[in-house]
Amino acid sequence: VQAPDLAGRHVVVSAGGTREPLDPVRYLGNRSSGKQGYALARTAAARGARVTLVEANTGLPDPAGVDVVHVGTAVQLREAVLKAAADADAVVMAAAVADFRPAAYAEGKIKKKDGVEAPTVPLVRNPDILAEISADRARPGQVIVGFAAETDNVLANGREKLRRKGCDLLVVNEVGEGRTFGSEENEAVVLAADGAETPVPHGPKEALADTVWDLVDPRLR
Ligand code: C5P
Repeated sequence: VQAPDLAGRHVVVSAGGTREPLDPVRYLGNRSSGKQGYALARTAAARGARVTLVEANTGLPDPAGVDVVHVGTAVQLREAVLKAAADADAVVMAAAVADFRPAAYAEGKIKKKDGVEAPTVPLVRNPDILAEISADRARPGQVIVGFAAETDNVLANGREKLRRKGCDLLVVNEVGEGRTFGSEENEAVVLAADGAETPVPHGPKEALADTVWDLVDPRLR
């Protein structure tokens, strides 16, 4: 049984992957399953926190005892996270947020055209929610955690990303064939803005989630 070390705290977790619609039947998406975010929400609730889970396209059932907000796109996820973060002690951005969205939404299904090999889809940047909430904290001392999936130079890229995003902790994991996405297990290093590095061995996503809360807890004030 977990000690209720997060009792009286409000934490916000984003989970899943955004979908950026092209037309009524198509979207740009990613392979995030949402399982790591759900593990974070469940473990925080088990440790006594009030939890708001901002969920994008996971298809997973709402965890018991957690307030769930369902969103689809990055813009919707941003709005829900900003709203929930207003009175939060900690925010963990586990969602895979699309960096780009189609510049325009076609009201009707995009059709193949005779004589045209393939259409070009112009994209625009989505807001970087993690960087935004880190730069402009809703409360002093709010603890902000990001995730980074890297394919190479994992630690060096992670340290650079931690600085660039301005968050307090960054969970870095290596992605590739059969790893992490959709899996029940994860392996990561948690980098802290104060220089601490915590390796988390291969294991259940719940174990990584508990390590994240173990690192968040002493940083709360
Ligand atoms: O830059 P990159 O996408 O690798 O950063 C990943 C981290 O940033 C994750 O915590 C993700 O939730 C967050 N993110 C965000 N807004 C974006 C892109 C990523 O908050 N537009």
